Amino acid sequence: MRRLALAGRSCTDCPYQRDLTRSGTATGRVMSEPHTAIWMTGAYLGSLVIAGLVLMTLGAGQHGTLTGLQLTARWSFCFFIPAYVGGAATALFGSAFRPLARQGRNLGLAFASAHVTHLCFVAWIYYISIKPPLPLASAIFFGFAALLTYALALFSIPAMTQKLPSWAWWGLRTLGMDLIAIAFLRDFLRNPFGGSLAHLAAYLPFVGVVFVALLIRLAAYGKQLQRRWLAPQLAR
Ligand code: HEM
Repeated sequence: MRRLALAGRSCTDCPYQRDLTRSGTATGRVMSEPHTAIWMTGAYLGSLVIAGLVLMTLGAGQHGTLTGLQLTARWSFCFFIPAYVGGAATALFGSAFRPLARQGRNLGLAFASAHVTHLCFVAWIYYISIKPPLPLASAIFFGFAALLTYALALFSIPAMTQKLPSWAWWGLRTLGMDLIAIAFLRDFLRNPFGGSLAHLAAYLPFVGVVFVALLIRLAAYGKQLQRRWLAPQLAR
């Protein structure tokens, strides 16, 4: 029902969500699927190139694998962030950001496919390490974030979306994306000021970007709440 209610306009806060036509079906489904495939393939191939270069130059030991983890995370972050803020920025700042919001699903799926290489490095570092590289609680938290990433990708397929009640899809999309953003922030914040100037450059901009993105999302939630709760009261 909610999907039908959204018909005829694009949802401003919906990464992984396709545009919907008046009939409630996906807009230009045939046209958008090749685009989605291009986004996903490009993001995945990019991560493979990064992984290949790192392994060739640094090897497949601890150092090479940790560098691979850090670089592939940053690569997939480049797709995650615009998917995360596109809808909220449109809601706050207007239609200039609408093209970004429209690419939300493609960007989200590109993030998911780029992140596969990060998870391959994760499997490899667990295989070669004598003791686990992360404390168990952190591994469970990041594992849950990874699970949400692929649950979002799976349920963005229209046939699967229809199987979920609209509140569950809303919750998965909204809270899932927020939790993944927090996972990025948590990892980037682990030691942002440690070591050299190069270290600072490798962490601080990413921390700044996640903070700004979280603020934009919070402001958009605030605006949404204000519209939902205050506007009807003022109308009375
Ligand atoms: C959506 C899920 C995930 C996100 C958003 C994420 C994010 C990140 C980020 C941003 C980094 C770079 C940290 C840095 O530069 O220091 C990183 C590295 C790493 N990640 Fe992930 N990750 C995810 C899933 C996982 C999972 C499931 C595991 C393992 C259980 C994991 C294990 C690691 C390890 C071991 C590193 C290297 C840390 C280091 O440099 O010491 N990640 N991850």
